[in-house]
Amino acid sequence: MSTLSDKRILLVIGGGIAAYKSLDLIRRLRERGAAVTPVMTAAAAEFVTPLAVGALAARRVYSDLFDREDEQDVGHIRLAREHDLVIVAPATADRMARLVTGLADDLAGAILLATRAPVLMAPAMNPAMWSHTATRRNHLQLIEDGVRFVGPGKGEMAEKGEAGTGRMAEPLGIVAEVEAILAPPARPLAGRSAIVTSGPTHEPIDPVRYIANRSSGRQGHAIAEALRDAGASVTLVSGPVSLPDPDGMVVRHVETAGQMLGAVEAALPADVAVFVAAVADWRVATESSRKIKKTGEGAPALALAENPDILATIGHHAERPGLVIGFAAETDDLLENARSKLARKGADAILANDVSPAGGVMGGADNTIRLVTAEGVEDWPTLAKSAAAKRLAAWIAARLGRKGSA
Ligand SMILES: Cc1cc2nc3c(=O)[nH]c(=O)nc-3n(C[C@H](O)[C@H](O)[C@H](O)COP(=O)(O)O)c2cc1C
Repeated sequence: MSTLSDKRILLVIGGGIAAYKSLDLIRRLRERGAAVTPVMTAAAAEFVTPLAVGALAARRVYSDLFDREDEQDVGHIRLAREHDLVIVAPATADRMARLVTGLADDLAGAILLATRAPVLMAPAMNPAMWSHTATRRNHLQLIEDGVRFVGPGKGEMAEKGEAGTGRMAEPLGIVAEVEAILAPPARPLAGRSAIVTSGPTHEPIDPVRYIANRSSGRQGHAIAEALRDAGASVTLVSGPVSLPDPDGMVVRHVETAGQMLGAVEAALPADVAVFVAAVADWRVATESSRKIKKTGEGAPALALAENPDILATIGHHAERPGLVIGFAAETDDLLENARSKLARKGADAILANDVSPAGGVMGGADNTIRLVTAEGVEDWPTLAKSAAAKRLAAWIAARLGRKGSA
């Protein structure tokens, strides 16, 4: 919970109905360890009392630019400088306009011009005010000037019968944004490179038909994204899927197992490779260059040939990544098959998942994984594929860290 410990936050409370939510915001920020210095505009004091704000912050509330005692050492500049972040919540239409213009005729205005800390605004106003061209213009200008925004959201307004965009973001939504700015997630895989395969392969029979499987690519794509979020530079080798290409990585599109192996080899060397794709074990031995026709002499015989085993090839490759991880999609004897794959394929870990139709894993949103290594078996609970991906990225980071430069 102490995600913001040692962080000093200056909170400017503006004059809008949503000012009452800022009382809760103070509490939420302090719960996470932040020290909150409140600054109230003159209008804000019409909506919430300095007494309540000061009691919740357990600090003095500042509001007057011309405070004789504070300004003996030019207090507004001190306030502007000694904080890690300035939040304006609620940010009124008026305050946004004043900052665009650079007005500094009150304490909040002077602080916003003098600070070098990031500024986060949580606008709150009537939908008509928010959609007014002047506010639209000011919003865009402030974004260009480097101000960060959270909200506003849609919903009922304080004014009876009014709804639309203009509601201040909820305190926890603002806290999440504050955490993203001040305590960005760790990137334990920064400087590492990863290859991930995902989706099915299509093995052509003739120009219009192919052998495929039900893999959606959701788990593989989620793993590529989790590794990227952990800081790795990722090459995603994807079979035909209907998912969009994730941002922030190199994506290679392939169709067949042979092409997938070629793309993986071209992406070597890498620190880690995760083979999630459901690669067809067999292809049609001789793909027909013309559409196979019904001849009236019965069904054609399809002779199959074995595809390259991508996991085993890379597991024994001259440029083998330090960490090689495979998936074992099984319907029977899950553990036994995973253990035997581990040794045969030269993998460091096999993620075994039961893809029996009853479980709905293939193409579904969740996955129940058993992580099999030479050291033993870790049973993971049923997780959303994105959560399973995050857990795997953390496991990879710990494992690579342990192996040093592996
Ligand atoms: C009852 C009442 C509610 C108001 N609510 C809002 C509001 O939600 N958003 C807004 O931008 N202005 C609102 N205003 C207008 C602001 O209080 C006014 O523009 C003020 O100058 C803002 O000053 P400040 O940004 O320094 O706090 C409201 C005014 C009144 C009288």
